[in-house]
Amino acid sequence: MAHKIAPSVLAADFGNLQRDVEMINESEADWFHIDIMDGVFVPNISFGMPVLDAIQKHAKKTIDVHLMIVDPDRYIDTFAKLGSHILTVHYEACTHLHRTLQAIKAANMKAGVALNPHTNINLLEDVIEDIDLVCIMSVNPGFGGQSFIENTYQKVKDLKTLIKRKNASTLIEIDGGVSTKNARQLIDCGADVLVAGSFVFKSDNPIETISDLKTV
Ligand code: DX5
Ligand code: ZN
Repeated sequence: MAHKIAPSVLAADFGNLQRDVEMINESEADWFHIDIMDGVFVPNISFGMPVLDAIQKHAKKTIDVHLMIVDPDRYIDTFAKLGSHILTVHYEACTHLHRTLQAIKAANMKAGVALNPHTNINLLEDVIEDIDLVCIMSVNPGFGGQSFIENTYQKVKDLKTLIKRKNASTLIEIDGGVSTKNARQLIDCGADVLVAGSFVFKSDNPIETISDLKTV
């Protein structure tokens, strides 16, 4: 399967949000990656429901929501109503992860789990068959524009081995510091979806940059 590219709207120009959403519509990107931060789980606040509502009115591709919030169960139905297709919660924010995943699926969304850089992939062994997507954080969550953590390659390989051993169909997404410098190696290790924020939006030609990431 060809890998997917999910530009992170966190790095868009919020003064020209519709323009940037339409740019993603016209590009070879596959998904919209939407970062929701609460200032508690991570030391930053991004944007919330009204902004996602504005985005989804124009977005013509899969909406992949990454919740960096404590107690995400409170908002599962809200994000379903806002048109999210994939809802990813943090392993570190869920006391009853299995229950949370079932609740996301019951709301007709795909269920994702994100792992902080220090969280071992083996912690997912007993629940991997219930997860549609694992988002491996290749930076500490909270901010765009950080440097890629090199240990990610090994984590992707280990996770791919676990997914195959369990005969699961879970996708592997990489989030943080992704560029054409590491994209090929990540895909070779087993990544299916690459999130890219600054590398796309800070480039001179975001459409071309997305195409470069798609064809590495
Ligand atoms: C970080 C967010 C990322 C971020 C990626 O907490 O989850 O999605 O937008 O940005 P870049 O690609 O700039 O590292
Ligand atoms: Zn993200």
